[in-house]
Amino acid sequence: MGVKNFILTGGEPFLYRRWSELVDACGSDARVVISTNGKHFSEANLAVLSELPQVKEFRTSIDGLATNDIIREGSSYTESLESIRRLGLVFPDRKVMVQTVIYQQNLPEIPLLYQALKDIGIYCWRLSQLWKTIRTERNRNILDFSDYEKMFGFFAEVIRMHQCDSKPFLLRIDNVYYSWIEKEDYSPMDLCGHPCSYNFNFLCVNANGDLIFCPALNVPFASIKNQSVKDAIEGSAWLKDFKDITVQSVGCHGCRYIKICGGGCRADALRWFGTITKIDPNSCCMMPRIEAKILPLLGDEERKAFEALIDQNGLFPAIAGSNIEQAVSSFNKKGGSGDDAQEQTA
Ligand SMILES: C[S@@+](CC[C@H](N)C(=O)[O-])C[C@H]1O[C@@H](n2cnc3c(N)ncnc32)[C@H](O)[C@@H]1O
Ligand code: SF4
Repeated sequence: MGVKNFILTGGEPFLYRRWSELVDACGSDARVVISTNGKHFSEANLAVLSELPQVKEFRTSIDGLATNDIIREGSSYTESLESIRRLGLVFPDRKVMVQTVIYQQNLPEIPLLYQALKDIGIYCWRLSQLWKTIRTERNRNILDFSDYEKMFGFFAEVIRMHQCDSKPFLLRIDNVYYSWIEKEDYSPMDLCGHPCSYNFNFLCVNANGDLIFCPALNVPFASIKNQSVKDAIEGSAWLKDFKDITVQSVGCHGCRYIKICGGGCRADALRWFGTITKIDPNSCCMMPRIEAKILPLLGDEERKAFEALIDQNGLFPAIAGSNIEQAVSSFNKKGGSGDDAQEQTA
């Protein structure tokens, strides 16, 4: 099909014994990214990787310092940092991104982690929020980060630290801040277009052959185990319905953020309101805080470009709260279900 860009993730890609054959099958002119827990950069694997120049980037997870070792059971942040340092020495031309999930518990450790990553010299640091899964719900007492004010205070602090430090690596805070974005990169969401960036040129394949739309929306819609990708895609009624969703069909008309937010994440809409086609309450809680706390930190030109996308006469989202559970339950109590968010919003 001419695919040249691959991200191998999991699960843990290095636990698949034939991982190198998989990389090889991507082609010598491909660009392969491996997303890994960072525990498998043994001498033997590094030797195999040196024969696979198409692996251009590694993404390694570290969720703080001591907290990392508790939450990512079996992982050691000191070993992970050492592996990243070694990767940089062995493969100076390949990129290393570190992925960190933010919890209430690891906040105090983040400045120290920042310093360690700066000293090692990584290419990009990605901070993200916890997605809700069965496992995270089961461990809710230790995996907690639902206080939006605290979260945005923290994001602003990290952004300021990074800016005052001449931006030693790229900083990406999912859905909140991308340090490399220039004013030219801001463009309005097409209201008649699809809300998801994964709609364009991505195909996610689970290890068992199931196709899913994106890693967060892990709803298998077809399988390529016994049919071609083309047949699987063309034959999926679910995919056809999903592709018919547009930004304006999500039900946020009148919202001041619609041209930036595009109605939010379909997986979050499903999680919190049980429906894929409607408004995303997490985005409703995040967008006003991005405007209040993050926008003032952008350079003049980027800030103006961002502000130009906000409808200053538009309404603030009807769904609001200090944490997601509170936002969802107060919206439901008001009579909203996620299905009638349009009326609530407008
Ligand atoms: C699913 S893992 C797969 C690759 C590899 N096994 C690893 O540990 O990085 C890819 C990334 O997703 C992150 N991740 C896993 N579950 C998550 C969740 N519930 N919320 C947010 N991020 C999550 C991990 O921390 C990791 O950075
Ligand atoms: S109503 Fe909420 S989900 Fe819709 S565009 Fe506004 S902030 Fe985004």
